[in-house]
Amino acid sequence: MPIPVEKIRQDFEVLRNRIIYFDNACMSLKPKRVVEKINEYYNEYPACAGRSSHRLGKKIEHEIIAARKKIADFFNAKKPEEIIFTRNTTESINLIANSFGLKKGDAVLISRKEHNSNLVPWIFLKNKTGIKLKTFEFGDIGDFERQLTKDVRLVSCVQTSNVDGTTQDIREMAKIAHKKGAKILVDAAQSAPHREVDVRKLDVDFMACSGHKMLGPTGIGILYGKMHELEKLSPFITGGDTVKNTTYNSVEMEDIPARFEAGLQNYSGIVGFGAAVDYLRKIGLKNIERHEYELNKIITEGLKGKVDLIGPEDPSKRGGIFSFNIRGIEPHEIAGILDHSAGIMVRSGMHCVHSWFNANKIKGSARASLYLYNTEDEARRFVQEVSKIARMAK
Ligand code: ALA
Repeated sequence: MPIPVEKIRQDFEVLRNRIIYFDNACMSLKPKRVVEKINEYYNEYPACAGRSSHRLGKKIEHEIIAARKKIADFFNAKKPEEIIFTRNTTESINLIANSFGLKKGDAVLISRKEHNSNLVPWIFLKNKTGIKLKTFEFGDIGDFERQLTKDVRLVSCVQTSNVDGTTQDIREMAKIAHKKGAKILVDAAQSAPHREVDVRKLDVDFMACSGHKMLGPTGIGILYGKMHELEKLSPFITGGDTVKNTTYNSVEMEDIPARFEAGLQNYSGIVGFGAAVDYLRKIGLKNIERHEYELNKIITEGLKGKVDLIGPEDPSKRGGIFSFNIRGIEPHEIAGILDHSAGIMVRSGMHCVHSWFNANKIKGSARASLYLYNTEDEARRFVQEVSKIARMAK
């Protein structure tokens, strides 16, 4: 079903300014309902959850339980307790890196197109503990299987690449990983906002994503884990709210998820994230996915032969991402011209995937990333403006 874009746009205050916002892979805009929900916390029940038994404490406690349930349902988790609130995808991956119990001789397998958030924690762990870090070619199931040797205890890989929008077959990869006795953590930061991520269908052991890319607030993300896998983890950050009782030299740990949520939490972020998934659910991820494809088709056809595209030609394989270069002009310059001449906002550079750009000897790219509030007119305007830059650069 086509989505009611014009109506949706009314929900995003910042779109009243004459901007074309194509930087959604980095940060999505926030609908009024999400902003109102954040304010509702500060205006109506700005208290501590899980500690204070007065009415404001109870209210926020109830709101957190409701948000956790909504988010669990959104990803089809078996139970809300399988959702752990973190600051973002990066923190969720760090939690696993520091809690999974990997030791010298164990190996972690990642793809060769990982964001730094799923590379740097493993390099640190390797230097600290002597684990092995192995890589496979993103999207190449044959290579994945070859690299999945007996010593691999954990596969940690991105589902959709923020470089070019391509997506790996996580379901198949989970099947292979499990057959070989490894667990799998999927970085869904770029997939969860744009397509259905059903953790049970995918059969992943862990999944990480961030609220800020899916219409939610900044500073809130989740780690999903199958309950029996979460039970095996040792907590990473400890302190207040993670324990039932303490003496001067002993602790009795809280149940899951509280065990992993140390210190005062980002309550406004959590309730805002709940409102964001409500909004996405109402529009429907299948509809959003199709909408992004339609826009990407306009852009891809319009710029064919004019720019160097990163990734496959077929836009249906790139979701809402169009990453490109123009010979003779730096990506940052392209982004600057688009902003100043037409109010079009794109990201430029290596998109925190330095390892892939360095390995491929590419200096970076300019990247348009689309979302539900973008229009066909905006896509056509982008084509016009990029075509002008390409002519100028010749
Ligand atoms: N923030 C990163 C990006 O823009 C993930 O792609």
